[in-house]
Amino acid sequence: MAVITFANTKGGAGKTTAALLLTTELLHRNYRVCVIDADPQRWFSKWYEGAALMPRLSIETYVSSTTIQKIVHERRSQWDFVIVDLPGMQSPLLASAVGLSDHVLIPIQGSSMDAQGGAQVLDLLRYLDRKAGIRIPHSVILSRVNPAITTRSMQAVKRLLAEQEIQVLDTPIAERAAFREMFDLNRPLRKLDGAQATGAEKAILNAEALANEVLTLVQPGTTLDRSLMRRRDLSQYETAA
Ligand SMILES: Nc1ncnc2c1ncn2[C@@H]1O[C@H](COP(=O)(O)OP(=O)(O)O)[C@@H](O)[C@H]1O
Ligand SMILES: [Mg+2]
Repeated sequence: MAVITFANTKGGAGKTTAALLLTTELLHRNYRVCVIDADPQRWFSKWYEGAALMPRLSIETYVSSTTIQKIVHERRSQWDFVIVDLPGMQSPLLASAVGLSDHVLIPIQGSSMDAQGGAQVLDLLRYLDRKAGIRIPHSVILSRVNPAITTRSMQAVKRLLAEQEIQVLDTPIAERAAFREMFDLNRPLRKLDGAQATGAEKAILNAEALANEVLTLVQPGTTLDRSLMRRRDLSQYETAA
């Protein structure tokens, strides 16, 4: 099993959208996925509750920084991937979740407000590395990117990340109506009606490319139990975060 966490302390950065896209693409590839919906607003869970039954998907909700470790540990043998969708705010869950992760994905929108929320996550990852020697692989996903043009603010965000030697996925997530419709209609992207889903084909290609790239970074079954490895080291940072 591999644990992938979506983190940005700002709401609206595109965490839940990216988490849902990756989840449904992994299901499409026949992986078994457990989603931990750590957001008290339960956007992912609400989508799931209105969707048709998906046998290889399970959702855990109402988690805390103490229960998340137990949940991940218990799910280890049954699921290929655990996807953690964090809330858009500062929370002790951030340190707990990143500490359990094989990879942390940080969606950052091309606006300075979202770059700040992403920067808080990057600061924590740097802090854990420097102070405790805990290195957690992570990448930024540029989210809600205008597919037609490269805006000036997006260029600024890219420049800033390159200066800090932060890994950015080659695949950005474009701003597309189909990505909103998944939530409006409680359906996976590939099950959207062609007529309803504006630009659905391009959206599917985008999701496919995202999943392909993430799978080059994280594979199920090859990783060690990070929760056990890092448990002792991390406990002091959970309260600090
Ligand atoms: N790539 C996208 N294209 C279109 N709408 C998007 C995209 N990403 C996010 N949104 C919309 O923006 C809002 C916030 O996105 P969401 O994924 O819930 O962010 P977060 O989980 O970081 O708070 C939602 O209404 C969502 O539908
Ligand atoms: Mg969310």
